[in-house]
Amino acid sequence: MHVEFSWPQDLILGIPQVDSEHIAIIAQIEILRTLISGEAPESDFRDIAPIVKKISYHHFLHEENMMMKYSCSDFDEHKKEHKKFLNQITRLIGTFDCNPTDTIQRFYDVCGNWYINHIRTYDTTMAMYIKSHMVSPE
Ligand SMILES: [Fe+2]
Ligand SMILES: [Fe+2]
Repeated sequence: MHVEFSWPQDLILGIPQVDSEHIAIIAQIEILRTLISGEAPESDFRDIAPIVKKISYHHFLHEENMMMKYSCSDFDEHKKEHKKFLNQITRLIGTFDCNPTDTIQRFYDVCGNWYINHIRTYDTTMAMYIKSHMVSPE
């Protein structure tokens, strides 16, 4: 399913792989709006949420590999943030059967807010560091 959304310019980091993964993840999260509005059944959450988790997991690995490659100074803290997020959404997915409507809304809010804040802080710092240490653009 395709859902329209606009991607703020200040969230473009200038590392193409990272930027395209961010956009793909947010696009996936935005699909949840159709469940919240009733356009799609709540049961679709069972398919969508694990995809958000899986693509986040792979995205985090890509970032962590890049940070290791460039010896980024805040690697440990950044990695911890990724892990905390994955734990948080795993717990949320587990509440779906007891409370589907609230879980979907909360999952949507948590994911959206987390990504925007995380990209503006941790990922932006990482991108600035990597770009200033890059020999050739990736
Ligand atoms: Fe990221
Ligand atoms: Fe990150």
